[in-house]
Amino acid sequence: MHITILSGSTRINRLSHRVAVGLANYINIQGQHTAEVVDLAEYRFPLMEEVLHRLPHPPAGLEEFAQKIKQSDAHIMVSPEYNGSYTAALKNAVDYLKEGEFQRKAVGVVSVTSGMMGGMRAALAMQQLVLGIGGYALPQMLTVGQVAQRFDENGDLLDPVFEKNVQTFLNNFFWLGEAVTEKKMAIA
Ligand SMILES: Cc1cc2nc3c(=O)[nH]c(=O)nc-3n(C[C@H](O)[C@H](O)[C@H](O)COP(=O)(O)O)c2cc1C
Repeated sequence: MHITILSGSTRINRLSHRVAVGLANYINIQGQHTAEVVDLAEYRFPLMEEVLHRLPHPPAGLEEFAQKIKQSDAHIMVSPEYNGSYTAALKNAVDYLKEGEFQRKAVGVVSVTSGMMGGMRAALAMQQLVLGIGGYALPQMLTVGQVAQRFDENGDLLDPVFEKNVQTFLNNFFWLGEAVTEKKMAIA
């Protein structure tokens, strides 16, 4: 499978991006699947005024972004918890896409906080978002509290105990993603 990891924070000095990078590295090193970070801070999409397929002049990068999502087999959304939910940047980016880019694909959610709690509310809200865009929301989630103690600035895991959570989440994600991908190959 090719997996996109959507990095949902556009904040200066953001910490959650290291989780997106870390997960991509972790998946790529294991070698079973390939992963690519899709960084919303790089795209900096303006507030959505119309969905992509109805826009005569789409903002820079939007078509590339849509293609990356379309061409991937499965997705992981990484977002910090902001005021009890995921970021507005993530919702804004997803709202541009109305051509089924996420449809019938496994989508895992990862929430991040600097504090202890790990952002369960953001994770639950992302699962709802996944249902809204026709994806198969992975029931298991990865919540990353105290992010600076779990991932360093390069995305390397700092905590061997927490690494077990990461591997369990990914095992579940791969199971669902592979099942969906195999079904598509069987009917193609
Ligand atoms: C606008 C805003 C809202 C926040 N709301 C929450 C929250 O609801 N729950 C929480 O645990 N932390 C909250 N935090 C703290 C974030 O978890 C922490 O700043 C984290 O590093 C944000 O991720 P980022 O660095 O990738 O932007 C909030 C931070 C910001 C900037």
